[in-house]
Amino acid sequence: MTRRKQIYEGKAKVLFEGPEPGTLVQYFKDDATAFNNQKKGTITGKGVLNNRISEYLMLRLAEIGVPTHFVRRLNMREQLVKQVQIIPVEVVIRNVIAGSLAKRFGLEEGGALPRSIVEYYYKKDELGDPMVSEEHITAFGWASTQDLDDIMQLSLRVNDFLTGLFLGIGIRLIDFKLEFGRLYEGDEMRIVLADEISPDNCRLWDLKTNEKLDKDRFRRDLGKVEEAYQEVARRLGLLNEGASNDVRTPQVVK
Ligand code: TMP
Ligand code: ASP
Repeated sequence: MTRRKQIYEGKAKVLFEGPEPGTLVQYFKDDATAFNNQKKGTITGKGVLNNRISEYLMLRLAEIGVPTHFVRRLNMREQLVKQVQIIPVEVVIRNVIAGSLAKRFGLEEGGALPRSIVEYYYKKDELGDPMVSEEHITAFGWASTQDLDDIMQLSLRVNDFLTGLFLGIGIRLIDFKLEFGRLYEGDEMRIVLADEISPDNCRLWDLKTNEKLDKDRFRRDLGKVEEAYQEVARRLGLLNEGASNDVRTPQVVK
């Protein structure tokens, strides 16, 4: 991989010390897990694709004024990011009934929600990421009320923007998960978008066929997992310029 000092290893990514203070290198693995690590596997080429997809989405979000940790992509599997203090809360934004929401309330997947729902989960694998409320988050000191106001506003803007962006390429953004961090610059602290945005943490359905183009293909053993990630990259226009060398799996033929 690389010779740099490893700071942290997660399920899908590794963080290394960056070239300058205050930076980290985020390395994208092909490893895939589901159900809090109970199901494990590999999705060939996923790291390369997620690196590019997340780069693209973070850059587009930065253009509309959403602060992010992203600095630049370094190579096929690595990107330079600003070191932030990760807030241990997973923010899930839902537009359409699916996944755990469908299960919890006994609802059919696919129905549009009357309005978007934002949920919080405590980021703790050992506990299976339990759902929490603002009360838990502030009482346990994971984030302040002000932090949560920022997080909620940013999440809704990201949702509006990404919903439109994906619609433009024939994809329905069903739901997705975001993580935020605190970025310290001098005496200032800002909440910024961190982690990644990719088919690992979004549900993406083809607008016409409802075909799943995300990690549910792995979670639910639907097959064509690699192809789904590639299709998202292709529709975003990321598989053209010389990128075919980056991805070793064959192109989907339709
Ligand atoms: P859920 O329906 O299983 O709660 O998932 C909602 C969204 O959040 C879905 O797009 C997948 C994403 N997600 C993660 O990124 N990490 C997780 O650990 C979980 C449970 C969901
Ligand atoms: N990321 C979580 C895990 O590794 C859950 C998921 O994405 O389904 O278990």
